[in-house]
Amino acid sequence: MFPKPARVETAYLGLASFEAAVTLFNRARRACSDLISAFEIIGSECIALAQLVDPGMTAPVAAPVHVLIELSSGPTIDLSGVLASFLADAMEGGLVADTVLATSSTQAKTFWAIREGLVEGQAKRGYHVRTDLSVRISDVPALIDRSRRFVSLEHPGWIPLAYGHAGDGNIHFNVLPPLGLGGAEARTRGAEVTAGLYDIAVNLGGSISAEHGIGRSRRREFWSGISPAHRRMVTALKTSLDPKGLMNPGCLLPSTEIFP
Ligand code: LAC
Ligand code: ZN
Repeated sequence: MFPKPARVETAYLGLASFEAAVTLFNRARRACSDLISAFEIIGSECIALAQLVDPGMTAPVAAPVHVLIELSSGPTIDLSGVLASFLADAMEGGLVADTVLATSSTQAKTFWAIREGLVEGQAKRGYHVRTDLSVRISDVPALIDRSRRFVSLEHPGWIPLAYGHAGDGNIHFNVLPPLGLGGAEARTRGAEVTAGLYDIAVNLGGSISAEHGIGRSRRREFWSGISPAHRRMVTALKTSLDPKGLMNPGCLLPSTEIFP
């Protein structure tokens, strides 16, 4: 636990590309260091999702890629000065096309409502492919680019959405089935979409899981993606920490169900 920050500054930015967003993140780490408490990137195609939750919701900027940046600190830091000078530099160099600084916590909440509306909006669409991919931060643009190309070539009509926590290299590349496609057909095709996206992340040296863990839904892919020695190591670690199998029984182990 740590004390609630006395100061929080939030801005919503418009950028030309995911490359620009990653460059901006690297600059933000230099200029703002550990004061960064959020750096969310949102492909503009996701905004329509937030509007399923609240049709009146509009993004504060019009640009292909949006960034929601938040800084937090104690009371003696000139936090608004830090953010303003960082953003002035980024605008001057042309890296950021448009900036809206929240002038109140109420306005900051409207920015977060967009980000949080994506999750609620996609749930309203019913079944959809959800991923929790992670790659090196510098590979985030390649991950999104390859994933978009894969979906449009192999699964035309499916709707890709890219958003996530860029500062962790964690992207939720989610894909909605075409309107009207549901049930078993959507799930079968969705499993193929998921497998393709996992391949792209793994080929970039990334992982099929980031903040959400493996759990039951990624168990098969997890065990298939590691070597026999790695499987033995994971099993030995889990067994030594939990010899009676009390923690999440039957969730991650046993791998013998997958590799008898
Ligand atoms: C998110 C959660 C769902 O980033 O991981 O929206
Ligand atoms: Zn997330």
